[in-house]
Amino acid sequence: MIELNLHENIFQRQFDKSTVFTNRTTITPHYTPNNLPFRNGQIDAISQILSTSLHGAKPDNLFIYGKVGTGKTVTVNHVLSQLQEFVAHNRSKQVDFAYVNCRNHNTKYKVFLKSLSKFFPNEDFIGYSSAFVYEKLLKHANKGKQLILVLDEVDKVKDLDELIYALTRSNDELQSGGIAIIGISNNLFFKDKLDVRTKSTLLQKEMVFPPYNAKELKAILEERIKTAFKTGCVEDSALNLAAAMAAQESGDARAAVMLMLRAGEEADKSLGQRVKDEHVRLAKTRVEEEVTMNMVETLPKQQQLVLYSISMMTVQGKGYGKLNGSREEGVFFSGDAYREYERIASSLQQQVVSSRWFREYVNELETYGLLITTASGKGVRGTTTLIKLGFDAKKLRKALEKELMCA
Ligand SMILES: Nc1ncnc2c1ncn2[C@@H]1O[C@H](COP(=O)(O)OP(=O)(O)OP(=O)(O)O)[C@@H](O)[C@H]1O
Ligand SMILES: [Mg+2]
Repeated sequence: MIELNLHENIFQRQFDKSTVFTNRTTITPHYTPNNLPFRNGQIDAISQILSTSLHGAKPDNLFIYGKVGTGKTVTVNHVLSQLQEFVAHNRSKQVDFAYVNCRNHNTKYKVFLKSLSKFFPNEDFIGYSSAFVYEKLLKHANKGKQLILVLDEVDKVKDLDELIYALTRSNDELQSGGIAIIGISNNLFFKDKLDVRTKSTLLQKEMVFPPYNAKELKAILEERIKTAFKTGCVEDSALNLAAAMAAQESGDARAAVMLMLRAGEEADKSLGQRVKDEHVRLAKTRVEEEVTMNMVETLPKQQQLVLYSISMMTVQGKGYGKLNGSREEGVFFSGDAYREYERIASSLQQQVVSSRWFREYVNELETYGLLITTASGKGVRGTTTLIKLGFDAKKLRKALEKELMCA
């Protein structure tokens, strides 16, 4: 038998390394903490609305919105797990709920399927008609049950008006039981897109989750640091810096948590015993990159194509020509960028949109900070829009290539 020298084993070496973490998991964004500071008011309000179902009546539909990372998902999940616990101990209560992330289940049919898979975990409904799965859902409620469907990121549903209409109308068809909806979205303008009928039914009750300020983010981080890091391993100034940075961005608790996690990793990488300001600063660059890449991956195809075209031109060292004959690399006339977009979109056998829509997409990409536009000033014939990238061209090109070529 081969004698294993553990000192030379790479995993043993990793394992032996000193670390600032005790339980890294609790500082990852997917972890649901037991305690949610600053969300007691929302927890009370949501549970009050849902408690109607425990008395056998249909709760009002509720629509929750608030910016990214304001705790919408984690708060609703907390309330649901409490409801689950209560119902498990009070079996006479005829309440059932399903949580659906509409980013992954983005049509009416898929939402029905996902809900059924929660209500009937041992059955498989894939392949059944839309009418069948809808009827199945109705029959489940008709047993006298109050069903609560939580539709997270509800704005991602393609046929949303139909979904909401079907679910609200279902209550007229039921002899007993009911179906209530909790919609969640971080798109504050998404309501404008709904048709009037949907709006009036979905938005029976509304709730806004405000962004966290620096003080609140600090308290949230402190709470999570207690279980994630070894005692005293995070310097106070590093904690303040992380909270301030996340608050300045948008009051996003996910960004704050990610920043602390990455800062801890940076501290470990540098073999430091404590998380310091410099680790938070290094972490910020990494987190920004991760957030940007995440955003790029979820952009609609046409916006990806626009961004890809401008990334390509930048990587190839192209630029616009000034009247004095010089050239500015990485900055493009809007018209030149459009022509490159046309060329790339057609070479990838994609639809080519008009230049008016192209400008529309450029404006949207600018609101995400992915593009920067200015009006051309002196040194250019006439006035036109100049466009440049707001992020590293090579990284964008690589991420977009993966998205566009593998689709
Ligand atoms: N009050 C809080 N206490 C502790 N952690 C929190 C709190 N609020 C949010 N978080 C943490 O911040 C992260 C983001 O929260 P959550 O996913 O609920 O945001 P969201 O509002 O649903 O964002 P999005 O709109 O992007 O879906 C999660 O890791 C969550 O655990
Ligand atoms: Mg969420």
